[in-house]
Amino acid sequence: MAGQPGTRNLPNASALRYLWQERRTSTLGVDQSGVWRFRDLLPIVAEERVITLREGNTPLYEMPRTAAALGLNWLLAKHQGMNPTGSFKDTGMTAALSVAVASGFEWVACASTGNTSAAMAAYAARAGVRSLVLIPEGKIAWGKLSQAMDYGSTTLQLRTDFDGCVRVLGEVVKRAPVYLLNSVNPYRLEGQKTPAFEMMEQCDWQAPQHVIVPGGNLANCSALGKGFAEMMHLGLVHQAPKISVIQAEGANPLYRSLQANGGAALEPVVAKTRASAIQIGNPASWKKAVRTLAWTGGWCEQVSEREIALAKAEIGAEGIGCEPASAVTLAGLKKLAADGRVGREETVVLLLTGHTLKDSDYTIKYHLGELLSEAEMESAGSAELAEHARLRRAPMVLDADADAVLRVLDAQPSALGPA
Ligand code: F0G
Repeated sequence: MAGQPGTRNLPNASALRYLWQERRTSTLGVDQSGVWRFRDLLPIVAEERVITLREGNTPLYEMPRTAAALGLNWLLAKHQGMNPTGSFKDTGMTAALSVAVASGFEWVACASTGNTSAAMAAYAARAGVRSLVLIPEGKIAWGKLSQAMDYGSTTLQLRTDFDGCVRVLGEVVKRAPVYLLNSVNPYRLEGQKTPAFEMMEQCDWQAPQHVIVPGGNLANCSALGKGFAEMMHLGLVHQAPKISVIQAEGANPLYRSLQANGGAALEPVVAKTRASAIQIGNPASWKKAVRTLAWTGGWCEQVSEREIALAKAEIGAEGIGCEPASAVTLAGLKKLAADGRVGREETVVLLLTGHTLKDSDYTIKYHLGELLSEAEMESAGSAELAEHARLRRAPMVLDADADAVLRVLDAQPSALGPA
């Protein structure tokens, strides 16, 4: 009714649900995109200016064996690594790059731990604009570096860390007409809120109790939070999930800040973790992350390199796979479930942010037993060692002889064993 503050002009929730679903059957690029089919809530660029690679529409997988091992009834993984460039960054990049091009920029740029640069390079190439990538030398996974090159970016490896690259880029964009595509760009967050809409569609509009995300530069948690807040405002859902953020122990400035002062101030750290995507010591969006944890009631946890490696292998053994940074979600969930912060009856969605092929070096080293040092493994208990032994699948070299192959087959355990 006209004059009712707050509800006037709001779109009808059921009509939106129907429209979003219906667009999936269309042949138009903007309809096939899992970001732009929600364009009613993305009023940032005209439809005909959209640059899309048909991002989004990623699967929500069940993880029954992992759920059983954790004593949970129900565990799901939303795999954002199934996006066109293999990471969740595509949903934000389609939005921000479309704005950059519509605004007339010829150059776009980002500092990155690898995935943002891969996404930016691809979308810039689609749009026909130039892109500049600043990455820390020797600190990103080869798969990601190869993407930036393949998609034609000018790729600069700076002798510093990610935080150093951000600093340099800040100066560059002040001195040259280059559009900044780091996650402080507000349009990226607009795109990155859409997986929340998709997740709700996939859950029949019943919000899960928990969504767990990895924390690096700390933009993604608040982007999802914004998605849930908008759905609540529109009456599409009635409650938001608790959004929890998991950091690697060696790159844990948010965790430390929450322990030390409840998130009032953040002391940057020198970051060191094999989960290179989240090797970030001075996260740009930490204040937004603190607000998101507060309003949704989520937690921040930290996990060790050993815990990350094991969780990654477990996600792989479910036939899903992910890159190391994504596996912190499962490692963190184990902690939340162990002390009752996540209950058996509650539904949990892990947000897997990157594809397993992004960092195959890590995976191969793990299975060869070369990833973790002896010193790191020293304090591992017998149950943990047994779990590693169960999951490791080092490739064997054999003569080209069927008998030799059959002998290996005979020696295999009869069942995969409990998860
Ligand atoms: N997972 C993956 C695979 C990532 O690439 C990143 C961030 C994150 C999680 C953390 O997300 O920064 O929103 O907290 N990667 C950025 C990059 C920094 O440059 O690709 P966040």
